Amino acid sequence: MTRVPAEKCTALQNDAVVTSTVSPPSPQSIARAAELLRAGRLVAFPTETVYGLGADAKNDRAVAAIFAAKARPRFNPLIVHVRGLTDAEALAVFDDRARRAVEQFWPGPLTVVLPRRSGCGLSLLACAGLDRVAIRAPAHPVAQALLGATGRPIAAPSANRSGRVSPTEASHVAEELGDRVALILDAGRTPVGLESTVLDLSEEAATLLRPGAVTLEQLGELLGPITTPATGPAKSPGMQASHYAPALPMRLDALDARLGEALLAFGPSVPRGFAQVLWLSRTGDLAEAAANLFAMLRHADRPCFTGIAVMPIPAHGLGHAINDRLRRAAAPRNS
Ligand code: TXA
Ligand code: MG
Repeated sequence: MTRVPAEKCTALQNDAVVTSTVSPPSPQSIARAAELLRAGRLVAFPTETVYGLGADAKNDRAVAAIFAAKARPRFNPLIVHVRGLTDAEALAVFDDRARRAVEQFWPGPLTVVLPRRSGCGLSLLACAGLDRVAIRAPAHPVAQALLGATGRPIAAPSANRSGRVSPTEASHVAEELGDRVALILDAGRTPVGLESTVLDLSEEAATLLRPGAVTLEQLGELLGPITTPATGPAKSPGMQASHYAPALPMRLDALDARLGEALLAFGPSVPRGFAQVLWLSRTGDLAEAAANLFAMLRHADRPCFTGIAVMPIPAHGLGHAINDRLRRAAAPRNS
């Protein structure tokens, strides 16, 4: 995998050499990042899930720059990041159920969709014009420090080009968006590795819009039955069938080898004959597999292989979220 030097990164994009600043987190770099955000610039930062592409969530022009940088359709709203419940209540209307959910899982990888508070000042573009807002308090200390230093809510989708694999390392961000961001805070690999669970609590039925590290089982235990739309939920505009699309064809539940394929393996015994084996987890640990998934997908997605095969992943706990991402990576492309 391409590594990014600590200070200045050079990325090749559109045949042009471009530079962006990559900094390890320090009080100085976090203060600089906050200053850039307040000035309407884009900053990429680590969360416990994946790297986010951040902008001041109250600044329309800054939010528009996110959509432009990612080539993201404007109907697909962004998650607004805050330090915690107090900040969130200024932006969204919480009921008891929503409060219970975030008291249990914040700061952490849970996003809740709630009615947007009128006059809250959030960019309408961030919410794609909807009267609901998706909001979360990330647990990563660098994200928390940045939110504290900025003093504003930060709109941040995953810091990848729209439809591509989410970034779990600063180098992934630099490769795809290096020319579009003012600063990338590089805190190494993100520990969870999959994007947050998105739970819609804006209506009576609690609905899981995107599975993630906070599992359906955990949510059900706390809140009672959770609806899970069987097909790609129209309610979450970002949940298209095809996403995370690697350039190579993908084959799921693979138990045998085909010529030239790379294998994402799970568990100790692996079928023979693959061109390369990348272990999501040798011991069959779902948390380890989730943390490795996106980096290994990127690594396997190279022309030296003919395709990417993935061994079966158990469908419980975090396995739901992993299988969700794999199905969408393997789905026929939207365009
Ligand atoms: O872990 C994460 O959630 C990361 C980090 C950076 O926080 N962010 C992330 O953002 O994954 P993004 O934009 O890649 O995914 C946000 C998802 C999309 O599927 C979007 O459609 C959905 O949340 N979403 C955002 N606002 C919504 C809303 N108002 N109603 C329904 N779905 C919404
Ligand atoms: Mg994303």
